[in-house]
Amino acid sequence: MYLLGVDVGTSGVKVVLIDRNGAVIASASESYPLYTPQPLWAEQDPNDWWHATCRAVRQVLDAAQVSASQVQGVGLSGQMHGSVFLDEQGEPIRPALLWCDQRTAAECAWITERVGEQQVLQTTLNPVLTGFQAGKIIWLRNHEPHAYARIRRVLLPKDFIRYRLTGEAATEVSDASGTALFDVPKRDWAYDMLDTLELPREWFPKVYESPEITGRVSASAAQATGLAEGTPVVGGAGDQAAGAVGVGVVQSGRASVSVGTSGVVFAHLERPQVDPQYRTHTFCHAVPGAWHVMGVMLMAGGALQWYRDTFAPEASFETLLEEAAQVPAGAEGLLFAPYLSGERTPYPDPQARGAFVGLTIAHKRAHCTRAVLEGVAFGLRDSLEILKAMGVPLEELRLTGGGAKSPLWRQILADVFGQPVHTLQAEEGPAYGAALLAGVGTGVWQSVPDACAATVQLASTIPPAPERQAFYETRYAHYRRLYPALRTFWV
Ligand code: XUL
Repeated sequence: MYLLGVDVGTSGVKVVLIDRNGAVIASASESYPLYTPQPLWAEQDPNDWWHATCRAVRQVLDAAQVSASQVQGVGLSGQMHGSVFLDEQGEPIRPALLWCDQRTAAECAWITERVGEQQVLQTTLNPVLTGFQAGKIIWLRNHEPHAYARIRRVLLPKDFIRYRLTGEAATEVSDASGTALFDVPKRDWAYDMLDTLELPREWFPKVYESPEITGRVSASAAQATGLAEGTPVVGGAGDQAAGAVGVGVVQSGRASVSVGTSGVVFAHLERPQVDPQYRTHTFCHAVPGAWHVMGVMLMAGGALQWYRDTFAPEASFETLLEEAAQVPAGAEGLLFAPYLSGERTPYPDPQARGAFVGLTIAHKRAHCTRAVLEGVAFGLRDSLEILKAMGVPLEELRLTGGGAKSPLWRQILADVFGQPVHTLQAEEGPAYGAALLAGVGTGVWQSVPDACAATVQLASTIPPAPERQAFYETRYAHYRRLYPALRTFWV
């Protein structure tokens, strides 16, 4: 028997098939376009997600030589916060507005004012951010009233795939937490807020816990995907929570540090806890009865990618990282501020900008590369500091994402955090966590922590070097002064 995990990402969908030991039998990815009709807008066609999912599922079943009836369950994960508007026939009315779309500042301010800031914070545990779903619905009401009038349902991205797979309109607590319309402590829709904002309750799907079965593959979806009719589909989770399940961050004391395009520090919580300044997000976890808190830095690996594409397009990442390893810690006085696309944590500031500070003619390309790696590590440390101040136990930090593959970057992270970091044996991202949730929902494992204990293994531990750790404490204090100083240039 096998389990299938699907992650509907921003650049493409990834599908993995695992066995009962957690071994990956096959995986496939299929991409789709992202549309930016105006600066700061970001849209995708939900039918592109569906067709890509159908292709990737077929590829995985073919590559694994597994018959559809051997797939015991399907778990869904995906980009969070987006808004899919469906009409009476269940067809998308227009392209979906995505998590990285920034058009809704005015709507978010209006929602906060209408509901009352205290009420918003107490209920959703987060401010209404431009990326979150609520502002996108109100934007449609304000700007495309004809489209708004046709809405019968509003779904999150992965829940649209569920709708196509099973015919059921359903969601689960971790993704619903990122709508700004969800009562995060109660793990249910914030009905009072829906009423105040005059959003019909029936537009919003039924809420499940992440491992619960939400429906079964329909006959038409079986035709489209190659899956067997009747295969159970569990709730799954938003990509951050599913990714955390995939690396075993499912109990108190564990946190993950993910260096992908963005950088995320994600910690498990036994009860809902917030940063008093709301610089981090507190959402329901995919573990029933648990929550999580995360700091999101918008450019981590993305900063290195930008740097290479802009200044060293002919060089490979390996060459750049080898060069940077020859330069002493601190890049001989060079600091890098990684706010290349605004920031969320610790500065919720869409206007924030990046900088190299302290350049001299003695600095070579290698220094600049090292400064980028260090700047990202300092930015992640900012999130860790917020979690520590909240009293969140952070005994074990698990590194994930493309950046975690670089031994130099790992060591810089351990040195800057002043704490060992751990790498994992296998890392397949959110699709893997979604497959584990499918296993819990269909009885392979008793609980999410049981699933992780049976499948997720640490590979190595990187301790900080004491002399560099002490040095980086001083550098971190300098880094902390960068944003307040730079800010004077754009306010
Ligand atoms: C989480 C977030 C991203 C998206 C896209 O808050 O905005 O992780 O889910 O991947």
